Amino acid sequence: MGEIVRLQKYIAMSGTASRRAAEKMIDEGRVSVNGAVVTEQGVKVEIGNDRVEVDGVLVKAVDKKIYIALNKPEGYVTTVKDQFDRPTVMDLVQREIHTRIFPVGRLDYETEGLLLMTNDGDWANKVTHPRFESSKRYYAVLKGVLTIPELNRIRRGVVIDGKKTSPAECEILEIDMGMTLVELTIHEGRNRQVRKMFEAVGHEVKKLRRENVGIVELGNLPQGRFRYLTASEIEYFNRK
Ligand code: URA
Repeated sequence: MGEIVRLQKYIAMSGTASRRAAEKMIDEGRVSVNGAVVTEQGVKVEIGNDRVEVDGVLVKAVDKKIYIALNKPEGYVTTVKDQFDRPTVMDLVQREIHTRIFPVGRLDYETEGLLLMTNDGDWANKVTHPRFESSKRYYAVLKGVLTIPELNRIRRGVVIDGKKTSPAECEILEIDMGMTLVELTIHEGRNRQVRKMFEAVGHEVKKLRRENVGIVELGNLPQGRFRYLTASEIEYFNRK
């Protein structure tokens, strides 16, 4: 199924006219949908399914695909709309991106770092599907000093929500003031996985940042900002 949009947006997406000019065309009876002239505003059409004509000429909306990498700050929810009206990741992209995009997978409200967003549902499924096992690297600040036996348990897998996690790469980067900074790479995407893994060995995660998803790296993207993915980054997940 294609995206469902208002008729004036559809006409604007086709490049025929601006939204405002399209509304005027509708008022003037110049637009038809599936052969019937439409003069009221607000009618919805499906891209790729409905047949829209302006002055008897077929117009086609271009369903442009968008793929971005956002550096999500702490304190934003990874949903399109939050039931408690907290800030959402949509607030960070809406000023520049005017089509509807959605987050690929999720980061917790408190987690920061790399979040991919797109309007391409098939691509999003590939990125998050367990079969593709996109690796994800995190920096986590843990309360307390992580011991070597605990580190090894994290590497081998710990039971969370009744199921063992698959083998992970984990290194201690720094121990300071009773806190441990670790780098963890996992190949799954279970709910609150990193927090639950460290809780399973007795350590609370105080801070969490995602550094990459597959070949897409956060790099030095400023917090709250996004960039468009490159063609090879997009292709990487298509080929998987
Ligand atoms: N694991 C977590 O616990 N939280 C996230 O946001 C991402 C991975």
